[in-house]
Amino acid sequence: MKLRRLGRAQGDVALLTGGSGGIGAALAGELAARGFALALLARGAAALDREAEKLRARGARVTTHVCDVRDPASIAAAFSAARAAHGRIDLVAVCAGIGRHVLFEDHDAENIRSILETNVAGHLHTIRAALEPLCERGGWIVSVSSVAGRLGQPDEAVYSASKFAVTGLSEALTIELAPRGIHVLTVYPGLVRTGFVPEDERSRLPESALRTAIEPEAVARAIVRALALGRHEVTVPRIAAGGYVVRAIAPALFRRILARLRGNVLPKPGR
Ligand SMILES: NC(=O)c1ccc[n+]([C@@H]2O[C@H](COP(=O)([O-])OP(=O)(O)OC[C@H]3O[C@@H](n4cnc5c(N)ncnc54)[C@H](OP(=O)(O)O)[C@@H]3O)[C@@H](O)[C@H]2O)c1
Repeated sequence: MKLRRLGRAQGDVALLTGGSGGIGAALAGELAARGFALALLARGAAALDREAEKLRARGARVTTHVCDVRDPASIAAAFSAARAAHGRIDLVAVCAGIGRHVLFEDHDAENIRSILETNVAGHLHTIRAALEPLCERGGWIVSVSSVAGRLGQPDEAVYSASKFAVTGLSEALTIELAPRGIHVLTVYPGLVRTGFVPEDERSRLPESALRTAIEPEAVARAIVRALALGRHEVTVPRIAAGGYVVRAIAPALFRRILARLRGNVLPKPGR
């Protein structure tokens, strides 16, 4: 089956995990503007309802589905309810994710489990659930990784590990699912202004990241543009991709730069 380029929706339906806020909600807005009907998934019903109301006010057809991606049965139930309501699913955006800015030595076991269950197992099971509906007429998977899923980030080691897993999964599936007519786009955002980083952890971020932080709408526009152009990966902001080049050609220099940027949070020698 040929891979489709994203254009104006013709009865297409998008299902988004993490659809109640941040990047997922912004992407829902972009897709609604292109005529997609939407199924929004997240744990919190109130935030889901708020986002759905905003989209309906703009004329979109929207359903909401309370779902915890850490539980495969909850994902399966949400997919089946979305399919029953809309009749089809053409695009699945895997946006649900959590992270922590904390040194590895200070991470507690419960946090580690939660990050891996949400970002790795949750991501994997969401894509598994997407296969059946997407195989019917082909479609799109938007897999949200992170720049931290390409460049290991100190103070975010567990989050980085989880996003490297997402990157590996997505890159493999880009090739494996193409014959099924499923286009996989992997998204690598830098710092985005959402509720993702709690206020009390923001001071741990390097000044340069805070300066170049972008709005979730910019990520959503980049995703839609990449799908329209038939791309398989997109880094936003684009300047962040410069890090991949430095890492590839001068890894020792890259490590020194990163150590300097994160000097405020790294343990002092001998501590
Ligand atoms: N913001 C950034 O700087 C940044 C940078 C790079 C990559 N990313 C990635 O982008 C994605 C979206 O991040 P964001 O900034 O939009 O975060 P956000 O504003 O915190 O939104 C996260 C969304 O995921 C949902 N979610 C979290 N845990 C869930 C679970 N167990 N089951 C179902 N839904 C769950 C949340 O709703 P509930 O809490 O109600 O479930 C919410 O809708 C994540 O994968 C993140 O790793 C973010």
